[in-house]
Amino acid sequence: MTQSETVDFPQDRTCPYHPPAAYDPLRTTRPLTRVTLYDGRDVWVVTGHSAARELLADPRLSSDRSRDAFPAINARFAAARNRRLTLLGVDDPRHRTQRRMLVPSFTLKRVAALRPRIQETVDRLLDAMEAAGPPAELVSAFALPLPSMVICALLGVPYADHEFFEEQSRRLLRGPTPADTQDARDRMDAYLGELIDAKREQPGDGLLDELIQEQLREEALDRAELVSMATLLLVAGHETTANMISLGTFTLLRHPEQLAELRADPGLMSAAVEELLRFLSIADGLLRVATEDIEVAGSIIRADEGVLFSTSVINRDTTAFPEPDTLDWHRTARHHVAFGFGIHQCLGQNLARAELEIALRTLFERLPGLRLAAPAEKIPFKPGDTIQGMLELPVTW
Ligand code: HEM
Repeated sequence: MTQSETVDFPQDRTCPYHPPAAYDPLRTTRPLTRVTLYDGRDVWVVTGHSAARELLADPRLSSDRSRDAFPAINARFAAARNRRLTLLGVDDPRHRTQRRMLVPSFTLKRVAALRPRIQETVDRLLDAMEAAGPPAELVSAFALPLPSMVICALLGVPYADHEFFEEQSRRLLRGPTPADTQDARDRMDAYLGELIDAKREQPGDGLLDELIQEQLREEALDRAELVSMATLLLVAGHETTANMISLGTFTLLRHPEQLAELRADPGLMSAAVEELLRFLSIADGLLRVATEDIEVAGSIIRADEGVLFSTSVINRDTTAFPEPDTLDWHRTARHHVAFGFGIHQCLGQNLARAELEIALRTLFERLPGLRLAAPAEKIPFKPGDTIQGMLELPVTW
């Protein structure tokens, strides 16, 4: 491929667990090349592992979504970005201040203390699924409610409202039009704003309550920032992990040898979760804009140029992962970029790992006969411009 023939980005996957076939030219033109966005704008896409880690750690690449030159992967994203921004949408030093407020709630120690509760939730959901089936639709019976219940308990958001916020979250990430996304965002902001106001009157014991006591009252955060942070935590906390559980289950069922190996040696589970994170790369298309000219791997990224990171292609770079298209529990996968890299690297990664380990281990232990209840090619999965995962997962056992 020459510099003048660009690939459109993003594109739908052809198989839910492989990078889109249309990205094949990007796999041979590493480490970075030009792609064309939906609005006709050309930006850089980074596809090489070492260049990705170098650039994601470079402060000359900004996450500030209010910058005019910040790239958008679709009209929906463009419409949603001029909101009050926190964490993922801001740079240091603001980012550092905000992230410090949250880090203590997501440490390994705090997550270890949540494990019994996660296990209990998994057991309860599987009891209900077994009592009602077979068959079952795994996304609605298990993959979505688990992380949704866990993040609600952590934040202090009532799970009784889950249908409302799961629906807004779906519209935020995959709404049909920019107006629909805006409306979902307005409803989510109004809901979390009211919840925060109610908690100011009558405190509970979740992370939002702590943030109200320690940050809002001290004026380290304003109400709009706290609402924005709460939205990010609630959406990122359930949508991503839910997709990993559904797509992870589908992928395991499509790889019977690897599944049998995992069943024979459950000690492989944490390595398997890491390898599935690499292999599936569900957050495929991280966004940045250059604030200065940056020379990298023989190319110059100019100030105001957009830079995208295709995690699915980066995580299949042969120089970092030999035979990258093979699912292999015995490789070292931990240097993948499925959680990003640098200052914005996923805040919830310890929690996500714990949920995935407990969910997948228990699901396959309790249902040894678990299998797809429809032909694999007929099972719908998500489009390329959002977090990747299964739209539905009919199973039986
Ligand atoms: C398997 C599940 C998950 C995946 C694959 C994932 C992926 C990611 C990625 C790739 C980023 C970096 C984005 C960028 O640099 O542009 C990120 C950031 C973030 N994630 Fe996750 N995530 C997952 C689960 C969670 C969970 C459970 C939470 C819990 C609240 C969470 C909260 C966040 C937050 C707050 C950020 C922004 C961090 C910052 O800007 O400093 N994520 N995640």
